[in-house]
Amino acid sequence: MIQKINEAANFIRNQVAELPNVAIILGTGLGELVNHIEIKKEIDYKDIPSMPVSTVEGHSGKLIFGNLGGRYVMAMQGRFHYYEGYDMKQVTFPVRVMKALGVDTLFVSNAAGGMNKEFRVGDIMIITDHINLFPENPLRGKNYDELGPRFPAMTEAYSHELIKMADDIASEKGIRVMHGVYVGTAGPTFETPAEYEYFRVIGGDAVGMSTVPEVIVANHAGMRVFGVSVITDLGGKDITDVPTHEEVQKAAVKAQPFMTEIIKELVGRL
Ligand code: HPA
Repeated sequence: MIQKINEAANFIRNQVAELPNVAIILGTGLGELVNHIEIKKEIDYKDIPSMPVSTVEGHSGKLIFGNLGGRYVMAMQGRFHYYEGYDMKQVTFPVRVMKALGVDTLFVSNAAGGMNKEFRVGDIMIITDHINLFPENPLRGKNYDELGPRFPAMTEAYSHELIKMADDIASEKGIRVMHGVYVGTAGPTFETPAEYEYFRVIGGDAVGMSTVPEVIVANHAGMRVFGVSVITDLGGKDITDVPTHEEVQKAAVKAQPFMTEIIKELVGRL
């Protein structure tokens, strides 16, 4: 595994003039952020040794290097979901490569279903913590001490300092932001009403099918993380709305300019 990570990192190192210490996973809600990056270099996943290739919408996915908000960053356009059939090592491989390249701060976004009764469709939720309900932990198996400790703490999986900075930015700009706990599940089914209710009762505010594996590996690697969800549908005991992929996309597009604004400003202030 170490060899694969180093091969991929070396390949990338040879393609770019400069290495970033900030990386962004452009999940749902942040796709448009790429239009704000002054692009210096793009690398297709399919050219990177050992990099999985994404299955959705015929896009192979790419890494983008460039300036955002006055800061040099790398961005992942196209992420790997467990429900697509990738194993946890594949889902989190790019995070390991980022670390090998010197990244110490990771931004992630996703779409999520809201269980918190205060939430509305289109809300932005800053992730304060998560509950891992994936069937497997990405760190299961041999631990590579050079990558991180066997039993990593997850006490501050989402950086309190970055959350505070994002709150300040949101209030300066008059953007409504909620806070909450993200429940990560395998998918690809949306939840039954009883499951949404169960996730709320155990302390979740929103549920989605990504992010948790990447955030676990980023924490293992000692990175600080900032995560944000766009609430694309609401679920609970008495909610009979049927969530669809189209509805999720539509709500995400609505929240996108605000998510973009917060992340761009946050990256600029690091
Ligand atoms: N459940 C799980 N994942 C999701 C949802 C949901 O309701 N909405 C967007 N992603």
